[in-house]
Amino acid sequence: MVRRFTGDPIDPQTAERIAAAITDAPTAGNAQGITVISVTDPNQIRRLASACGEQLYVDRGFDPWLSTAAQHIVLCAEPERYRERYAEADKNSAVLEAIPWWWVDAGAALMAILLTAVEAGLAAGFHGGHGADAVRPILGIPDDVLLVGVVAVGHPAPDRRSSSLDRPKRVDTIHRHRW
Ligand SMILES: Cc1cc2nc3c(=O)[nH]c(=O)nc-3n(C[C@H](O)[C@H](O)[C@H](O)COP(=O)(O)O)c2cc1C
Repeated sequence: MVRRFTGDPIDPQTAERIAAAITDAPTAGNAQGITVISVTDPNQIRRLASACGEQLYVDRGFDPWLSTAAQHIVLCAEPERYRERYAEADKNSAVLEAIPWWWVDAGAALMAILLTAVEAGLAAGFHGGHGADAVRPILGIPDDVLLVGVVAVGHPAPDRRSSSLDRPKRVDTIHRHRW
């Protein structure tokens, strides 16, 4: 994650390619219930940054990284698409009670976005969608659509690293042969 951008715009075709990366990510049952809203208008980006509570980051010593991004990719999930797909004959709808696959698919889509941005020589940071209800009316997101978060994309600048990175790296996350 990078939380500071130069403010330079990004090529529109690159912005489109980064947003379209979600179509390469897997979805459970090929439900394709993950969608994005790609925003590149600077005024709209500033409105979204404010709605996301950017000031709280600034108060904590971070740069205003949401408003200076060249692109926001608002990541959404549509549970209804999954419920419809898992009601089909080859699926078991109880599966969604155990694991709501849209969260898994949203993570895969997020990773595809991040990797495509980095591959294009850009950088990105993820702002979680919790508390982002003020974003909904700005973009007209329907009530039954989940707002997973906002990916801020831009040209990287040296940033203040998150204190989360002070946490020691676990060395026991890869089991071999058995747990
Ligand atoms: C599901 C998820 C939610 C996150 N939410 C936020 C967030 O709301 N704000 C933020 O600044 N970083 C957020 N992050 C970024 C993490 O803090 C970051 O990925 C982690 O500290 C590891 O740092 P790195 O990605 O730079 O390696 C989130 C990451 C994930 C995967």
